[in-house]
Amino acid sequence: MTKVSQSAGNSSSNNNGNSTDIYNIVLLVVDIVMLIVKFWIAIVEAIVNLFRPAPLENVGGKVVLITGTGHGMGKHMAQQYAKLGATVICWDVNEQTNNQTVKEIQKSGGKAYGYTCNVTKREELVELAQKVRKEHGFVHVVVNNAGIMPCHPLLEHTENEIRLMYDINVLSHFWMIQSFLPDMVERNEGSIVALSSCAGLFGLINLVPYCGTKFAVRGYMAALAEELRHKNPQNNVKLTTIFPYMIDTGLCKNPRYRFPKLFKLISADTAAASIIEAQRQGLEEAAIPRHFVGVEKIGRLIPRKAMRLVNDFLDTGVDTDKL
Ligand SMILES: NC(=O)c1ccc[n+]([C@@H]2O[C@H](COP(=O)([O-])OP(=O)(O)OC[C@H]3O[C@@H](n4cnc5c(N)ncnc54)[C@H](O)[C@@H]3O)[C@@H](O)[C@H]2O)c1
Ligand SMILES: *[C@@H]1O[C@H](CO)[C@@H](O)[C@H](O)[C@H]1NC(C)=O
Ligand SMILES: *[C@@H]1O[C@H](CO)[C@@H](O)[C@H](O)[C@H]1NC(C)=O
Repeated sequence: MTKVSQSAGNSSSNNNGNSTDIYNIVLLVVDIVMLIVKFWIAIVEAIVNLFRPAPLENVGGKVVLITGTGHGMGKHMAQQYAKLGATVICWDVNEQTNNQTVKEIQKSGGKAYGYTCNVTKREELVELAQKVRKEHGFVHVVVNNAGIMPCHPLLEHTENEIRLMYDINVLSHFWMIQSFLPDMVERNEGSIVALSSCAGLFGLINLVPYCGTKFAVRGYMAALAEELRHKNPQNNVKLTTIFPYMIDTGLCKNPRYRFPKLFKLISADTAAASIIEAQRQGLEEAAIPRHFVGVEKIGRLIPRKAMRLVNDFLDTGVDTDKL
């Protein structure tokens, strides 16, 4: 609306125009004041939370589904969730090692059920998800953990290797989320945990495609969090992205470090406990060790050339698995 048409019109529409303008300005001022107040409350809350860890959600009696439970962190998570009283649903492509995990849990008095599943096969995965929901009811926690890490220079990676890596490390997560998120959204509860990696925070040599998969996990989880919040401001479905540094599972075949005391391998048991803690606290992001998320943020503030000098000094990473 223009000033000319306003002054040319009758006086009543002129008054109306002015009062809507004033009304809109008042609304905008109220919005800005609210933003400033809430912004500072959020900052203070975040600072207080630094010193007061969030309470742990009770997982006793809940159903927890983990992929890749035949070995490594998946296996240790299955054991620890079972100890906390959860019913653990174990999925792995390796029937033998997965059976072993389930047997061990049952022997020590825990509740576990094993299913053989190659998570790259979407139709089988979706069917199995339906079966699990029918047999065990609402799945409260889904942990997208299964992953592979071929490790060599990019031009030595084969097409199949790269495709399989994306199928397992990224695409399978979408099939899992499509299978289990609708129930969670409907009940407005539950957690989805995704294993990214420090390779999802930093670019590393010999891990070019792998870094791509782990950055992808970080990216889709961040976007999904926004989507859930946008759809329901009271959203209570928790998303947790995990960024482990090198964990002693055998996945990382040739770790290299200049200062082993500073960057030592973390045991799979410790890492699993750390992931479960992050899920139960409802953290959106958690590195193992925890301070690595902060290290990445600070690293991004430092000019690239300066940061590379530090990286070269630390000389830490993984060597090719083709040695
Ligand atoms: N080990 C590390 O240093 C490290 C660091 C950061 C992130 N991560 C991530 O953590 C997750 C677990 O790593 P880990 O070291 O415990 O691995 P791991 O190799 O010890 O165990 C992975 C399990 O996943 C299963 N699996 C592989 N392909 C599968 C498929 N197609 N379908 C179903 N199951 C399949 C394997 O059979 C195995 O039991 C992975 O996503 C990995 O990328 C690991
Ligand atoms: C794994 O366990 C299932 C069910 O107990 C059994 O049918 C299957 O033969 C077992 N497989 C292996 C490889 O041990
Ligand atoms: C899982 O399926 C993919 C094809 O989708 C195949 O390439 C891969 O070898 C399978 N994994 C195992 C361990 O059988």
